[in-house]
Amino acid sequence: MHVSERTLPLAALQAAFGERLQQDQSLGRYTSARIGGRADAVVVARSADELAHAAQTLWQLELPFVVMGGGSNMLVSDAGVREMVLLNQASQVQFHEGPDPSVWAESGAGLGSIARQAARKGLGGLEWAAGIPGTLGGAVAGNAGAHGGDMAACIELATILHREVGRQEWTPADLGFAYRESWLKRNPGQAVVLGAQLRLVQRPEAEIRAQMDEFLAHRRQTQPPGASMGSMFKNPAGNSAGRLIEQAGLKGKRIGNAQISPLHGNFFLNLGEARAADVFALIQEARQAVMDTAGIELELEVQLVGEWPEQD
Ligand code: EPU
Repeated sequence: MHVSERTLPLAALQAAFGERLQQDQSLGRYTSARIGGRADAVVVARSADELAHAAQTLWQLELPFVVMGGGSNMLVSDAGVREMVLLNQASQVQFHEGPDPSVWAESGAGLGSIARQAARKGLGGLEWAAGIPGTLGGAVAGNAGAHGGDMAACIELATILHREVGRQEWTPADLGFAYRESWLKRNPGQAVVLGAQLRLVQRPEAEIRAQMDEFLAHRRQTQPPGASMGSMFKNPAGNSAGRLIEQAGLKGKRIGNAQISPLHGNFFLNLGEARAADVFALIQEARQAVMDTAGIELELEVQLVGEWPEQD
């Protein structure tokens, strides 16, 4: 839908959200890549209840929306976003210690922060997540993972607000996890994650820290620092998107201020004020080059948000 075709029902939105409704907001600052245009309207949710209320209100008003958590796995278009944006800042975290420890957190809590808080309590199981940017909700939807761990293996239950059936507790089977995928990612706009409970294990803090340090050191060696969206493409089965892009000769390739990292071919960097269109041009070029050299079609891991040419 184009802007001109829709005028936001501002009176209804203001009545529902009051000062939590912000108009004409620049979205780049909410993304890890620091890229993207403006949103017509943003609603900030500071608790899972506020998030649920916002989603319900927008579904009732039949206004499509995008939920932004850490903004670490998305590319926002230069033209910005005409849908409503729900900024998820619900970040309460509760630990359940004892023989079967777990943590319940609201979906806007940072995954890495949850892992580090657990470590301080001598609770392991999330060592793999220490360096992962983004929120718990994004991690559930995208089945975030690293170093052999992923959300699918840790999650006990997720509290979901479903557009038709309301609030429910979903098991890992309900969430339909696959590699960097879930039911939530395959069905955008149908449900939001309000929170999740993750399984933990008792483990000496020193051991947890040693393992996290090892993973973080590996990350620093293999992945570039600076503004990016994390892995741009999913790894094709039995292969590595980074290696394929390297073999296609595109590491270091630059368009405007967007660059394919010279360190890791699957990371696309913002060298400063990069345009989303330049990142997109690099995406197309990488896809084409990998198709030409290896006959493999790369699939985006990053979510394209805003206004983009039709994807095949
Ligand atoms: N490689 C190259 N050239 C490159 C990049 C990688 O030849 O430019 C080779 C490496 O030498 C290695 C293989 O490809 O033999 C795999 O590389 P790496 O160990 O860096 O892991 P990856 O497959 O590129 C995956 C996840 C990361 C996660 C790391 C560590 C995906 C798409 N990526 O990366 O997850 O942090 O493993 O566990 O699944 C993410 O999904 O956003 C992400 C960062």
